[in-house]
Amino acid sequence: MLLSAWAAACGDDDTFAPPPGPVYRNPAASVEARVEDLLSRMTLEEKIAQMHGVPITDSQNVNGTPENARLGIPGFHMVDGMRGVSITTGTATAFPVGSGRGATFDPDLETRVGEAIGAEARAKGYDVLLAPTINLLRHPRWGRAQETYGEDPLHMGVMAVGFIRGVQQQVIASAKHLALNSIEDTRMRVSVTVDERTLREVYLPHFKRAVDAGVGSIMCAYPKVNGVYSCQNTHLLHDILLGEWGFDGFVESDWLSATRSTVPSALAGLDIEMPYPHFYGQPLVDAVNGGSVSVDVIDAAVRRILRAKFRFGVFDGKPPLNPATVVESPAHTALALEVERKAIVLLKNDGAALPLSRASLRRVAVVGVLADTVNLGDTGSSDARSSYAITPLAGIQKHAGAVEVVNLSHNTLSAAELQQVGAADAAVVAVGLTYADEGEGQQVTPSIGDRKTLDLSADQQQLILDVASHNPRTIVVLEGGSAIIVEGFVDRVAALLMAWYPGTEGGNAIAEVLFGDVNPSGKLDVTVPRTADQLPPFVNDKSNVDYTYYHGYRYVDKNGLEPRYPFGFGLSYTTFAVSNLRLAASTIAPNGEVRASVDVKNTGTLSGDEVVQLYVGYDGSRVDRAVRDLKAFQRVTLAPGQTKTVVFTVPATDLAFWDVAANTFVVEPISYLLEAGSSSRDLPVEARVAVVAR
Ligand code: BGC
Repeated sequence: MLLSAWAAACGDDDTFAPPPGPVYRNPAASVEARVEDLLSRMTLEEKIAQMHGVPITDSQNVNGTPENARLGIPGFHMVDGMRGVSITTGTATAFPVGSGRGATFDPDLETRVGEAIGAEARAKGYDVLLAPTINLLRHPRWGRAQETYGEDPLHMGVMAVGFIRGVQQQVIASAKHLALNSIEDTRMRVSVTVDERTLREVYLPHFKRAVDAGVGSIMCAYPKVNGVYSCQNTHLLHDILLGEWGFDGFVESDWLSATRSTVPSALAGLDIEMPYPHFYGQPLVDAVNGGSVSVDVIDAAVRRILRAKFRFGVFDGKPPLNPATVVESPAHTALALEVERKAIVLLKNDGAALPLSRASLRRVAVVGVLADTVNLGDTGSSDARSSYAITPLAGIQKHAGAVEVVNLSHNTLSAAELQQVGAADAAVVAVGLTYADEGEGQQVTPSIGDRKTLDLSADQQQLILDVASHNPRTIVVLEGGSAIIVEGFVDRVAALLMAWYPGTEGGNAIAEVLFGDVNPSGKLDVTVPRTADQLPPFVNDKSNVDYTYYHGYRYVDKNGLEPRYPFGFGLSYTTFAVSNLRLAASTIAPNGEVRASVDVKNTGTLSGDEVVQLYVGYDGSRVDRAVRDLKAFQRVTLAPGQTKTVVFTVPATDLAFWDVAANTFVVEPISYLLEAGSSSRDLPVEARVAVVAR
């Protein structure tokens, strides 16, 4: 066995003599040969020691797994890092949060973010990054909405794959949390009821994309899915992840109390109990010795763990640690700025209130507590902080040139201050949410968890109205993790921007957009409703919730509702026209692909980026389907007057629905309506393609 492994690794060269020492230590041997060799040398206890975090008594390697000194097997060193490497390791580059990065609709940019965060993690001595967070945003009140890329499964998957590709140039990525983990307040006890079709079509496709892209690790979640805890859910782990998808990386549990058992967890396919051994360790050794878990099950789990250690170079201690200088390097800081420039979404701009012209403005008032607040997002496990952060006020002061900046960065203005607002040529009001409004459950005391409301606080709404009644050129900058209802003030203000939690360079990007140095190009990755009842209910006080088929834009479209701002929406200082949707073929086979192209022209006078979006609807399906689903998107940069042709390729398998009776995805032989444009509600061109069984 070992010799044949050597032969496989070394090819046919019979002059080759293996170096002395075991195969598993030879970096030139194949990963599978090394795994098998090492596994064959391990005792049962040693194998099971690979399958849990370090004991609580061991203060070394917190959030890691133990090393094996006898065989020289390193442990994993795990660290959180969705918006930057965790603050528990000291400062790091704090990028805009996931929902802001989702709004860039730019997976290549996300690859660069992943690589930067991965590089900083490795510089700090870690080999597993506990990111990306890819739970679909079913409802914007979810406390961790900010960590994810938004409400659409295709977009989520594409952005996640971008991130993972970048991270895994440096360390192992861990896509989390499988699955349906999108309520904080009850996350330790809630059971999410979901039918198989909804699970397959809505809540799992982005995890599948992550697996297909080679993600090294998956974290299973706290909640139960259909009554069974995720980390012992045979259907999720054994049948789908390991069976159907053929995942060959490792599964680790979410932290305290996501692992709930010994035997069911091991049999389902949980490979590593984190962060300490409780159900694994000795109880698992006993279960094997008692015959309730076979050695084959243990071997399969340890193979997955060792494979990752070899595949990603953890075992060989290489590539070597990055120098400490990569942490908060100028390049990473510049990247954080670039991301926020592309993340900001211009939601309203009446009468060309923006951009502010330095040449014609004398004075701008900057209002609101958040104008002068470092607001990077949650203080839960995604908390990352840089050694400095630019607030909106600081950014505006830096970029204002000769324009006088009147600092009124508080939420209650006196009559005299309101007069100052009135005397300014424009007023910028920074409002929104902070870590005190939304965040991870049970990380801090008192736990923040889910948002109480989709509305802005009453005092901030009043502030906006007060400012707007004194200055017609009132510009509102919103910060926060996802949709905020704006009905109470939006008709009274001239312009509105969504800046998310904008990262270390956020204030600079905000100022550049305000002054027109940067043309805004972000698009909403969430639906902004007019009222909460335009969304499905958010139930965060019950032990059982139903995740039905529709949410987000698919919900408002299906129910004929008019949201305030639709999914995919975002304005620019220039204008674009999308035209001429063409198909390579108007019929395709069920295993074929749709090839479509569309022209996009910059019809304005400034250069800018547009995100062209392609949606698909289904005519005459035998099942109830969404009015339209996003199937492809592309960001393009256009000079004034320039036209580019965007080409989209959609595999026919992406048009499939989950056939419950047949227990598989089915591509129906029907007509599909393709629509392309600038948002889910601005789709000026269409074409039809038929899938024809041949
Ligand atoms: C969170 C995970 C995180 C882990 C480790 C858990 O409470 O849900 O997302 O990776 O803690 O910090």
